[in-house]
Amino acid sequence: GAPIDVDLAPVAEGQGIKVTWRGQIIFIRNRTKKEIDEALAVDIATLRDPQTDQARTKPGHEKYLVVYGKCTHLGCIPSGTASGEPKGDYDGWVCPCHGSHYDSSGRIRRGPAPLNLGLPPYAFTADTKIKIG
Ligand code: FES
Repeated sequence: GAPIDVDLAPVAEGQGIKVTWRGQIIFIRNRTKKEIDEALAVDIATLRDPQTDQARTKPGHEKYLVVYGKCTHLGCIPSGTASGEPKGDYDGWVCPCHGSHYDSSGRIRRGPAPLNLGLPPYAFTADTKIKIG
């Protein structure tokens, strides 16, 4: 599939959207300061799939999290921040299939999923615009 442009200006802080690219759901969230601070405060040595929050966002655009909406266990669609309120014990997403909890950086924190929510290829083309693909 071709790259897609997404305008993030309508996504208020604390809200998220879902887009589809190459048949895959992608969650985009404009994170609150609380969510960012929680993500940064995690000791990554305690993580199953150790990744800093900085490694999962773009420099200068840390409030935006862009992840695949696909649980890394068996591929269900996690519910949570992209569609409304953060869910689960870590202010992120919870997978309805077997209860994997992801944090506000989309990192796996509890449950059977082995890996963090995946990161699609994207780049900022303006302050509130990204191109996915
Ligand atoms: Fe998400 Fe199993 S598919 S926890």
